[in-house]
Amino acid sequence: MIITHDVVVVGAGAAGLYAAYWAASAADVAVVSKLFPTRSHTGAAQGGIGAALGNEEEDDPLWHWYDTVKGGDYLGDQDAQRILCYDAPQTIYELEHLGVPFSRTADGRIAQRPFGGHTRNFGERPVRRACYAAARTGHAILHTLYEQCVKRQVTFYSEFQVLDLLLTEDRRKVLGVVAIDMLTGELHTLQARAVVFATGGAGRNYAITSNCQANTGDALAIFLRNGLPLEDMEFVQFHPTGLAGLGILVTEGARGEGGYLTNCFGERFMERYAPTVKDLAPRDLVSQCMYKEVLEGRGINRTGRICAEDYVYLNLQHIPKEELCRKLEEIVDFATTYLGIKPWEAPIPVMPTCHYYMGGIPTDNDGRVRADEAEGIVEGLYAAGECACVSVHGANRLGTNSLLDLVVFGRRVGLHIARHIGEIRQGRLPEAAERRAQSLIAQLKSSQGRERHGELRRLLSETMMTHVAVIRTEEGMRQALADVRQLRERYASVAIDDKGAVFNTDLLEAIECGFMIDYSLVIIEAALARTESRGAHERQVKDAEGKLVKLPRDDANWLKHSFAWLNADGSVTLKYRRPYLVHEHPEDGWSPEIMQRMRPKERKY
Ligand code: FUM
Repeated sequence: MIITHDVVVVGAGAAGLYAAYWAASAADVAVVSKLFPTRSHTGAAQGGIGAALGNEEEDDPLWHWYDTVKGGDYLGDQDAQRILCYDAPQTIYELEHLGVPFSRTADGRIAQRPFGGHTRNFGERPVRRACYAAARTGHAILHTLYEQCVKRQVTFYSEFQVLDLLLTEDRRKVLGVVAIDMLTGELHTLQARAVVFATGGAGRNYAITSNCQANTGDALAIFLRNGLPLEDMEFVQFHPTGLAGLGILVTEGARGEGGYLTNCFGERFMERYAPTVKDLAPRDLVSQCMYKEVLEGRGINRTGRICAEDYVYLNLQHIPKEELCRKLEEIVDFATTYLGIKPWEAPIPVMPTCHYYMGGIPTDNDGRVRADEAEGIVEGLYAAGECACVSVHGANRLGTNSLLDLVVFGRRVGLHIARHIGEIRQGRLPEAAERRAQSLIAQLKSSQGRERHGELRRLLSETMMTHVAVIRTEEGMRQALADVRQLRERYASVAIDDKGAVFNTDLLEAIECGFMIDYSLVIIEAALARTESRGAHERQVKDAEGKLVKLPRDDANWLKHSFAWLNADGSVTLKYRRPYLVHEHPEDGWSPEIMQRMRPKERKY
């Protein structure tokens, strides 16, 4: 069946809903989502959304911009990062007026707490910049935006999973998407003049992750299979405080409220690595330090290995129980439910958990999808939120900048569409638009092979976790590449048991497994090629004595974004693009002081 709307948004998290909300001011908009909208993973975002409101102490969007540039290890596009930080205050106030119930200061303003990497006056000390709604900030934003979309009469296709993207033959214009209605198993072509991808994260390809079951990176693989590139996929963020062995997130807001990490000696080890900001250093640094502590035998169980039995402690016992329960209610609940620990009595065992992809679908500053590493744009095609790479996070995202990215760029996409939808003409759908999706389904249903997608998924997530996580070596990544290539071959023999049409999760999980294998190949190849350490990509080599040491950042050769294409045989083609650095653009009128500040330099905290 063909369904037509002016605009189709794929994904119903905060980025998709904000885009839909603004696009609906001028167009007929539909949102397609594989979950019911308010179950989207935005709802899991806990501790806060960054904006230099200055409600609790002096702050400035310029300082926020500087922290974001430095936090991203200078790989971000500084013009986009500026938009993120300077648009933040007005976007927060717009959300407040739409109904987001932010936590409040005693005098009624939006309350703010410190978060990793956010500082006052260019790194002087941590600043309270994260606006929050207890530890359920994403939940509050998600529900508000959903209600606003309903009010604007956006059409929702819930539990529709997108399987394909429809482009013109030259890949320069979008025509629509193909989705399966999970309830009936029917395929639908959704034709539109503008299509927005806002499908969120992709962390389920790692064994330990804070991501929900739905975060299988479907859009990333769909773009790759349609000959479009992904940008900076080697940069995968590990949040420092996942519940050990489980990966469930303990918000950085816990450290913002005074929590701190200790090793087996009870030492607050972050004081050694980041004397100024300590436990509020950016995530890449904290996760790498936690790995180092464990590998050097200072984990709580002193194994000297990264394994389920070792971890460090997050200490919250010094915070009064009443305050913990009020400001970090969810964390108290998680620690009690999953580990049987009362955080006012005992420390919480934590280790890094796969949390966020800095890379994704390349876009310009209005969310328009780039067709290549040069200036090519795909007409009518947009991406926003975690599945997109604007790039505002560079090689490492600061906490609270994710929710901010969703709303600032989701909103920009919606506004851009509202302004320009009249200029976009509907293209002609290809004959048999659903053919590829049909054959994907038919192949899996008719397969007589012996492979099980659950097993392939397990092997994939284990090799990614072991070899392509916080610390990476060439040897490990080559092993992962060989493993994942083999999984891709084995995938051709995957068979499923459920041949039915209604809620066939066996089929859908098999399809997701194939998606995850595809974009994992791109992550590994892009990471292998990058022979430096930058942000979340810590690359180690053996020194003369055979000891593993961290490679330094190499701006001369690697201050560039990767663009990766997946070829039909599973090989990956890589190209590169220089980031936009303000000090290289005096024509844009940046002041000499700003140009000097934003120059790449060694990161110290
Ligand atoms: O720690 C957290 O609450 C996560 C925030 C984020 O990823 O921005």
